Amino acid sequence: MARILITSALPYINGIKHLGNLVGSQLPADLYARYMRARGHEVMFICATDEHGTPAELAAAKASEPVTEYCARLHAEQAELARGFGLSFDHYGRSSSARNHALTQHFAARLGAAGLISEVTEQQVFSVADNRFLPDRYIEGTCPACGYERARGDQCENCTKQLDPTDLINPRSAISGSTALEVRETKHLFLRQSALRDTLDEWIDSQTGWPVLTTSIAKKWLHDGDGLQDRGITRDLDWGVPAQFDGAPWAGMDGKVFYVWFDAPIEYIAATAEWADAQGLDDAAWRRWWRTDEGAEDVRYVQFMGKDNVPFHTLSFPATLIGSGEPWKMVDYIKSFNYLNYDGGQFSTSQGRGVFMDQALSILPADYWRWWLLSHAPENSDAEFTWDNFQASVNKDLADVLGNLVSRVTKFCRSKFGEVVPEGGEAGEREAALAQALETRLRAYERHMEAMEIRKAAGELRALWVLGNEYLQEAAPWSVFKTDPDQAAMQIRLALNLIRFYAVLSQPFIPDAAVRIMRALNFDDWSWPDGVATALVVLPAGHAFTVPDVLFAKISDESRADWAARFAGQRG
Ligand code: MF3
Ligand code: ZN
Repeated sequence: MARILITSALPYINGIKHLGNLVGSQLPADLYARYMRARGHEVMFICATDEHGTPAELAAAKASEPVTEYCARLHAEQAELARGFGLSFDHYGRSSSARNHALTQHFAARLGAAGLISEVTEQQVFSVADNRFLPDRYIEGTCPACGYERARGDQCENCTKQLDPTDLINPRSAISGSTALEVRETKHLFLRQSALRDTLDEWIDSQTGWPVLTTSIAKKWLHDGDGLQDRGITRDLDWGVPAQFDGAPWAGMDGKVFYVWFDAPIEYIAATAEWADAQGLDDAAWRRWWRTDEGAEDVRYVQFMGKDNVPFHTLSFPATLIGSGEPWKMVDYIKSFNYLNYDGGQFSTSQGRGVFMDQALSILPADYWRWWLLSHAPENSDAEFTWDNFQASVNKDLADVLGNLVSRVTKFCRSKFGEVVPEGGEAGEREAALAQALETRLRAYERHMEAMEIRKAAGELRALWVLGNEYLQEAAPWSVFKTDPDQAAMQIRLALNLIRFYAVLSQPFIPDAAVRIMRALNFDDWSWPDGVATALVVLPAGHAFTVPDVLFAKISDESRADWAARFAGQRG
C-alpha cells in the first residue's frame, strides 16, 4: 500500500466554473483519487478555492458584497457543486484560511532569511477616485494602433497589440471609469527566482517520465530570452495575506498583501492542515504528507492542472519550497491538460460562454458529464465539446452498452428465475474465453489508470462493457432457456456477476451509477478484482437482488437541440 497525495489546481473564487475548468484539473484528479483508493492505497486528495487578488475584490464589488462575505458565499456554492459532481476531496479548503495566512508568512520569512527576497521600487498607475493602484488590465483607454476604445493596459483585445498602460490614449480606471490617474512610486518585494535557476533546472532534469507538455513549458521559461525572471510577490491591495514575515512587519510593506500566485499553491499544504483541524487531528497528521523529515519521504505527490498553470507549479512554487531551505515534499508528477473548447469557440467565464457546472447539473446527473468529459479529456491536444458528440457518446456508451446490459440481465432474470441469482449449470468454453478477454482488457485499464492516460483508460472501460454485451448476445440465454434452463441460469449468474464487476471498475468514472448498481445487487463488496475468474463468482446462487431503475436515459434529438439553443449565447 502506497501513500498518494493528490492536488487539483485551485479554482478561482470569482464565479461558478465551466466544464472546461472542471475537466482541466478537478475531475481528472478525482478519477485518479478514486482509482487509487479503490486499489487500496492511502490517498490524500486536496483542493480549495483560490480567493485572493483583484478579480475577487472586483467580483465582490460588482455583487455589492464585502469581499469576505462574497468569498464565503462563493466557496459554499463551489463546494456544493463539487459534491454534486462527485468530487471526492478529503478536504476542500480556502486560501483565505488562517492556516494559509500563517504558512504563507512563514515561507516569506524563510525566503527573506535566505536572502531570496529583494525590494524593487516601481512606477505604477494610481487611481485617485478608487484610492488604489491599478493593475495593467484594469486601466482602459483607446488603442494607439487601431483606435479601439476599450483597449486594456496590457493588450488591445481588438488588434492584439501588447501595450503598456502609458501607451493608452485617454486612459481611465476600468473599475470606476475615472480619468484621475497618476503615476506613483511604490515598493514591492520580488522572489529572486533567478538565483534558483540552476537548482530548478537540475530538479526538473531529475524528474523522470513527466509529460512533454509539462517539461517543455518549464524549460521554455528557464531558458528562453533572459531566462527565469524574478517575480513580484506583493501587491497594493487590501484583500489577501498581509505582506508580513512570520507575523512581523517588513519595512515599507504596510498595507500590502502577497500576490495571489504566491499564496495559492501554499494553500495545498495549508488545506491539508485545515483537513487535520477539521478532523480534530494534530499537526503530525498533515505534516506526514508534506514534510520529508516527518514521514512524507514515502509519499507520491501528483498534481493536476491546465497548461496555463504549469509555469507556477514547475518553477515558482518549487522555488518557494526549495528556497525555504526546509524539507518540504516536492511534486513527483504533474499531469497537465490542454483546453476544452465549446462548440466552435472557447469556453469563456468573462463572456459567460459554454456550460457552467450549475447549469450542467440542472439538466443531467453528474455521471453523464463525468463520462463524456473524462473520455474526451484534452490530453494530447485541445478537445471540443459539441452537443452532437455528447448525445452520441452518452446514448451509445452509457445507455446502449452499460445501461442496457444491466437492464436486460436483471429483468430477464426476474421474469424467469425471480430476483435471486439463479442456480445450476456449469461454465464452459465461451465463459472461459470471456474471462480471458476481460483479463487482458482489465490489465490494460489498470495500466492506463496508473499512467493517468485518461482517454485510453476510458476506452478500455468501454471495451470491457462491450465484451459483456457481446457475450450476452452470443450466449443468448433467452433462447437457451427454452431448451436448457440450467445453462441459461449459469449464463445469467455470470452476467449478474459481470454487472458487479463493472460497478467496481466503473466507479472512478461514474460513481453514482456504480453505487446504484451495487445497491440493486444488494451487495457491498467493492474490492478490486485480483483476477477475473474469481471476480465472476463473487455473487453466489440464491443471493437476492432487485431490478434497478433505468441507469442512463437516452438523450433525445429534441433535448439536444433544445440545450444547444439554450447554451448557444451568453449566460444570463
Ligand atoms: N486559480 C488558478 C487558476 O484557476 C489556479 C491556482 S493553482 C494554485 O488558474 F496552486 F496556485 F493554487
Ligand atoms: Zn488595437
